[in-house]
Amino acid sequence: MIRNFIFVFILLATLTISNAISLHKRQSLFGGFGPCPNVEDTFSVTMSPDPLVSPHLITITIAGEEVDGLTIDAVSSLVITIGATVPVQTPSVFPVCNSTDCPIFTGKPYSQTVTFLLNAPLPPSYQIDLTIGNINSSSPDMSFLHDEILACAMATVS
Ligand SMILES: *[C@@H]1O[C@H](CO)[C@@H](O)[C@H](O)[C@H]1NC(C)=O
Ligand SMILES: *[C@@H]1O[C@H](CO)[C@@H](O)[C@H](O)[C@H]1NC(C)=O
Repeated sequence: MIRNFIFVFILLATLTISNAISLHKRQSLFGGFGPCPNVEDTFSVTMSPDPLVSPHLITITIAGEEVDGLTIDAVSSLVITIGATVPVQTPSVFPVCNSTDCPIFTGKPYSQTVTFLLNAPLPPSYQIDLTIGNINSSSPDMSFLHDEILACAMATVS
């Protein structure tokens, strides 16, 4: 009887540990979003499906609050880029706010939900970059005016 208990206990302990390990692996594989280097402002991100599946409609919700004194306004865009050294497809561009909720000054919370079609093969490891800025319309490569990033979050998948 006691031996049975010990056996069941060991079995449960093993299951718990292996569960914890696989959970940990899953989290480190798709490590979640964090701030971008050299950009003070960031925001939280939820993504569905997570991890990404292609081809698939992707829904991303961002929520944040400016802290650095910069202003997000009606001409600011959220640019979503997925890829390794080059984007797997043309970056998706969305407004961050509109006439009813713009501009977003420092200290004002904002959120936005966007949906786009991911329709390109994903490399074994890649980055998801979510960048908010004012796109320079006279620049062919969708760069931001004065190279200024208003807020940013990124995740690395490997
Ligand atoms: C503007 O933003 C508000 C708040 O996010 C939202 O409820 C509304 O539907 C938006 N309107 C347009 C025209 O996008
Ligand atoms: C916008 O892009 C053009 C072309 O690349 C560049 O010459 C100009 O300096 C940029 N303007 C700003 C304000 O970044």
